[in-house]
Amino acid sequence: MLDGKKTLFSGMQATGNLTLGNYLGALKNWVSISDEYNCFYSVVDLHSITVRQDPATLRKRARTLLTLYIAAGLDPVKNCIYYQSHVSAHAELAWILDCFTYMGELSRMTQFKDKAAKHADNINAGLFTYPVLMAADILLYQADVVPVGIDQMQHLEITRDIAQRFNSVYGEVFTIPEAYIGKVGAKIMSLQDPSKKMSKSDENPNGSIYLMDDKDTIMRKCKRAVTDSVSVIRYTDEQPGLKNLIDIYSACTGRKPDEVVKEFDGRGYGDFKMAVGAAVAQILVPLQIEQARLAADKAYVDGIIKENAEKASYYAGKTLRKVQKKIGFPERVR
Ligand code: TYM
Repeated sequence: MLDGKKTLFSGMQATGNLTLGNYLGALKNWVSISDEYNCFYSVVDLHSITVRQDPATLRKRARTLLTLYIAAGLDPVKNCIYYQSHVSAHAELAWILDCFTYMGELSRMTQFKDKAAKHADNINAGLFTYPVLMAADILLYQADVVPVGIDQMQHLEITRDIAQRFNSVYGEVFTIPEAYIGKVGAKIMSLQDPSKKMSKSDENPNGSIYLMDDKDTIMRKCKRAVTDSVSVIRYTDEQPGLKNLIDIYSACTGRKPDEVVKEFDGRGYGDFKMAVGAAVAQILVPLQIEQARLAADKAYVDGIIKENAEKASYYAGKTLRKVQKKIGFPERVR
């Protein structure tokens, strides 16, 4: 608890092109609940290098992501928006927590299994211990709540397990965090295969709407979205493609799925797809314009980066020192 408010932590990887799933499943919720908490939003660039990255591209994407956080409505004065790599405590705590995490539990992580299958030529130790670094991110700030999409639930559970294990040995060192999952948009599926989540790494670019897609591209991708031959607008698991489009429309417009069904009752899929595309564009286009405006103001963005790295380092340092003391590392001589 900081200044009477609970603490929130979340982060996104600066890898690949961010998708509408990242926005609706995470960023949008971050903005809607940020006033209630002391918030730390990190661009988790340390996590990004579990997969090979081109240095210039990584640097550029990390900056774009940081400015997107702000463009989406996160006030960088009230919220601590920073690069994970600027706060060395993340890597230090991750090492300590590695020693409280079992190989067995890490090998059960779905994301590890998926990524290992996708990058069979580079199954590095970082990919394996990725969830421990994520636990360190969250626990360093004593976060009470972590807003994420459903795909990150397993990582949240292991974070809680590690924290509880540590606390059971050393006392109440870490706050046990809770996941915050939004009511709609927590799992946006691919437009081309509604059995798979919409993902930055999908080989088929038509399956994902990228946050930087222009209006024509958004409309084209929605028009081509896979649906079914039932030809009736209903919100049911038996029509997964349509259900996903209703979720998207619902998350973009704030209308409940049953209201959407009523609104489009008796109309064709073609009409509905165009309405979905327009609703998505209405959110993404202003976001892109604001991101570009911010990105052009180098001095302003640099100032935020500097100040927030200091702020994050201060809070992270406090927890790290507490942990080091509990463990029995010798105190520094000043
Ligand atoms: P990442 O970068 O893959 O995704 C960022 C956020 O977007 C959500 N998300 C989705 N939500 C709904 N539908 C989708 N199709 C979809 N795809 C992605 C994710 O659930 C996530 O909330 N390991 C994390 C990053 C991370 C982190 C953390 C998150 C590192 N440390 C600490 C929270 C707290 C990741 O790879 O997210």
